[in-house]
Formats: sequence, structure tokens, C-alpha cells
Amino acid sequence: MKGIILAGGLATRLYPLTHATNKHLLPVFDQPMIYYPIMTLVSAGIDDVIVVTGGPHAGHFLPVLRNGKDFGLRHLEYTYQANNGGIAEALGLCEEFADGEPVCVILGDNTTDADIRPSVEQFSGGATIFLKAVPDPQRFGCPVFDPDDPQKIVRIEEKPANPQSNYAVTGLYIYDGGVFDIVRTLTPSDRGELEITDVNNRYLEQGTLSWVELSGFWSDAGTFESLYRTNRYWAEKKSAASSL
Ligand code: DAU
Repeated sequence: MKGIILAGGLATRLYPLTHATNKHLLPVFDQPMIYYPIMTLVSAGIDDVIVVTGGPHAGHFLPVLRNGKDFGLRHLEYTYQANNGGIAEALGLCEEFADGEPVCVILGDNTTDADIRPSVEQFSGGATIFLKAVPDPQRFGCPVFDPDDPQKIVRIEEKPANPQSNYAVTGLYIYDGGVFDIVRTLTPSDRGELEITDVNNRYLEQGTLSWVELSGFWSDAGTFESLYRTNRYWAEKKSAASSL
């Protein structure tokens, strides 16, 4: 399986921090943010990775990640998202890279200490999404479950005003090669973006979406509060490990 890290967008919610560099290069305790999704992929056995970036500071990735060998990557390539057309648009840029293979996609501002290797190894087609219970599901893609079957998702709502569950759809996804055909059929949402939630709903309609609950810590880091929370978690975890 190949890996895709989506690190485009302008991160205007983090101005003034992101005037001078790309959000995914901001520190999370002792490492740039993007190290964490790279390590999630590497730990899952994925060593062929593409980074999608964008905006005015895209060149900053090269001196940080170089050819990826320091992280255990066999191959690292980059592409550039010229418009900030959304997560699904960024994913669509990776079709040639994927070359028909399944892909494990991670948003560059998501960090987790969950082990996704079992899901990567057991993947057999369709889509797998990863859910996490959160106190603020209205900030995320949020699943609606069948009242008669609490394991069954009936639809996913993007940033619902009245969330129907306390789960976030995290920014980790596994897709089969058909995902690019789905992306081609999408139209922009009210916020002018091609939405990853629309991709996931399409798999749901096809009956080929499965979900797994992420164990351990997970957070995005796209707001000051979530960036702070993420930093605090990793600082405490790594400091505790180094004082053992
Ligand atoms: O963090 C998980 C959430 O991420 C999901 O629950 C939502 O369903 C999903 O839409 C997304 O929500 P956000 O609105 O918080 O995503 P954001 O715009 O902050 O983008 C997250 C990452 O995606 C960002 O760090 C880089 C990448 N991205 C985003 C956009 C808009 C791109 O590569 N290109 C883009 O155009």
C-alpha cells in the first residue's frame, strides 16, 4: 500500500504563525508536525509516500524531509496543489502516484499514537475510515448511526451544527484505487471545496465503507487550541518516556 500525506491549504486560522512557514512544519514539541503522520505510515509498513503541499512556503519541506530516507522511506515524492480546492482535490492530484494501488491517506495536521497497521494489512477494498470520540464533533466530519444498528453508519455530516453522535471522522483514510473515479465526479461544497466527506459518503452508498475506532491519542492541529493540545500531549508523553 502507498501513503499520501495532504499538507496543502493556507492555514489562515493559524495566522500569524503561518505567515512565515507552512502549518505542517510548525513544531509539535520537538519535531515538525509532519513528522508525526510520516511515522504513522512508516509504523504501518508503508514506505512509498507522496506529500501534497501548496501555498507560498511549499519549498520549506525539501530541507526538512529531503528524500525521506531519514524516516525509513524507500521513496518520497512531492506534488503541489495550486488552488486550495479542498482535501479531496489534493487527493485527486495523487492518481498517477497511486497507479491503481490502495492508498493510506493522512491529513498533515493529524497526529496519533494509534497503530493502524492491522487495518492496513487487512484492507481488502472499498474504504476504511477511523473514528474517535471527541468532545466537539461539530468541528469535524461526524457519522450518523442507524438507531436500529449502532455499528452501521447511515451517513457522514461535515461539521454539523447538531451532531448526531460524539464521534469525529479522523483525517486517516484507506481507499482502494476507485477513489480517484469518485473524486472526479465531486462538485464543490458551500465552502468552495471538494470534500473528503463526500468521498466517504459515496463509499457508504456503494456499501463498501467500513470503520474502525482509533485507540490512543488523536487530534488535529489546525486551530490554536488543537495545536496547543497536541503539543501538550506529545510533550508529556515524550518527556515521560525519556525520564524512564
Ligand atoms: O481533522 C479531521 C477533519 O479534517 C475531518 O473530520 C473533516 O471531515 C475534514 O473535512 C477535515 O476538516 P478541516 O476543515 O478541519 O480540514 P482543514 O481545512 O483544516 O484541512 C486539514 C488538512 O488537509 C490540512 O492540514 C492540509 C490538508 N488540505 C486541506 C485543504 C483545505 C489540503 O492538502 N488541501 C486543501 O485544500
